[in-house]
Amino acid sequence: MCGIFAYKGYQTNATELVFEGLKNLEYRGYDSWGIAWKKNQQIQVYKQVGKISEASSEPFAEQESTLAMSHSRWATHGAVTQNNAHPHFSSDQSIAVIHNGIIENYQEIRDRLGRSRFSTETDTEVIAELIAEYRKTMDFESAAKKACHEFEGRYAFIAMSQEDDMLIAARRGSPLILGVAAGEWFLASDIPAFLKHTREVNYLDDDQMVVIGEEARFIDLLSDMEIQKRTVTIDWTEEEAQKGDYDHFMLKEIMDQKETIMRAINQNEEEILKIAEYIKKARGVFLSGCGTAGKVCMASEYFFSIVANRHVNFAPASEFPIYHHFLIPESLLIVVSQSGETADVLEAMKVAKEKGAKVLSIVNVQGSSIARTSDFSLQINAGPEKAVASTKAATSQLSLLLLIAYAVAGRLEEGKKLLIETASMINDMLNPRFLKYIKEVADAINHSEHTYIIGKAANYPMALESAIKIQEVSYIHAEGFAAGELKHGPIALITPGTPCIALIAEDEVRQDILNSTMELKSRGAYIIGVSPNMHECFDHWIRVPDAGIASPIVNVIPIQLLAYHLSVLRGCNPDMPRNLAKSVTVK
Ligand code: G6P
Repeated sequence: MCGIFAYKGYQTNATELVFEGLKNLEYRGYDSWGIAWKKNQQIQVYKQVGKISEASSEPFAEQESTLAMSHSRWATHGAVTQNNAHPHFSSDQSIAVIHNGIIENYQEIRDRLGRSRFSTETDTEVIAELIAEYRKTMDFESAAKKACHEFEGRYAFIAMSQEDDMLIAARRGSPLILGVAAGEWFLASDIPAFLKHTREVNYLDDDQMVVIGEEARFIDLLSDMEIQKRTVTIDWTEEEAQKGDYDHFMLKEIMDQKETIMRAINQNEEEILKIAEYIKKARGVFLSGCGTAGKVCMASEYFFSIVANRHVNFAPASEFPIYHHFLIPESLLIVVSQSGETADVLEAMKVAKEKGAKVLSIVNVQGSSIARTSDFSLQINAGPEKAVASTKAATSQLSLLLLIAYAVAGRLEEGKKLLIETASMINDMLNPRFLKYIKEVADAINHSEHTYIIGKAANYPMALESAIKIQEVSYIHAEGFAAGELKHGPIALITPGTPCIALIAEDEVRQDILNSTMELKSRGAYIIGVSPNMHECFDHWIRVPDAGIASPIVNVIPIQLLAYHLSVLRGCNPDMPRNLAKSVTVK
């Protein structure tokens, strides 16, 4: 969802600074963008439809300012127009606001204040208007607090006032992080915006406000009391958040998998064993996540079943609340999320907690809302993932969950050994010859409008994940199936030349999936086999190492690469697929 980034400090190029920083958040929203800054006690606003990465910084070059804020939009309320782009002014132009989230009672507030005062279709405008209304009779801070008490829904907003040399920001349900340096403050929805300037951060929690004047003060909005917050040093580097020599973040992040599996399994063993004990004792263990993270959960159901003989239930986070009937204080919910901010996951956690159940989270972003509000949290340490399509985070999540399954089985060392070998095999696999071959496969199927992917056991969820990867970045219609289900319907879709990908492992179900692959071949399908061994029915053989039960981790990587090349060949931008956002902070 939308990205927000603001600066207050001594640097006089605040507009350029937020313009550059916002580019690092473009993965959060890229339909329009805008900047507000203060110059000679006047708030100036510039906004545009389109991608900030394609815009010039020229309008900001001469703007001497030490206070500025910026926003990249992923539209929820109101069409993608310049008028609906943030920042939004109050009708008297005294307050400007940028916002991520949805103010659910915005119609009510509009009615109360008078509809004629509003000039956009957005919910955000009510934040500016309400603060401006209260500011007429009280100071900026009190006005912002009073307004916050009236907002329903989720928000992270930053407000600027014509009269006051301050930034005020507040959050409920949407991420907001304060970066701190000597005499400088950076407010953003994600760390990469200010990584170049500081690694010292304060995470705002729900119903907290920060007022930045001469210094930063934190306020708890439930009690209206001032609070102290702990400063945390984050361990991401600026280099990790850049794409280096790669054309796209997606390719860089796929290649990062040479190292990220090792980082994911490099955990505190005592902590893993403690979590394993908890899983063993729990009465009912659930796995939940969204999108790619959801497919990781689904594959992990098989890991727990095969490795640890444990029945674990998966439900997509948006469906999880309906399971509340089965939740008891002894239940455990394991949530998986790259960003640690996904609204549906936070909602699933809320439902579990209301029943007294415990929550274990597996996240990539340190200090994220999901990490901070769970009972136990493990980090996959994959480094920043910026392409919308999740790649390295997914294989890291799979690796960590497989390791936990081994720990539950009392075979942690064996699991570690397998995953270290898998990491090394992935490192070898991602060699120039392999990359070239995947590009050739992409060339061969580039003009197809449909692709089907089949898998069995833990490779079945990976077939679903492969379909997501191809759909989201290349816009080719792609669907994944459990191999055995083909004959019950999907096989009717196969016509001569239809590309079909089979994800195969050297396991007990190998022959079954080969049989399904041959059924496809008999109907004229063009077969791409992802497998440690060749089979006569393959038109293309993508050779992957034999990783045993870890095969889903290995098998999904060539499909990530294939999706990437299909995207580029078809003239799409793999980093910013249409209509999608990296971090979905609305329900
Ligand atoms: C969005 C992203 C997906 C991601 C999903 C869950 O839909 O586009 O790539 O898998 O959210 O995100 P999370 O941050 O919770 O893993």
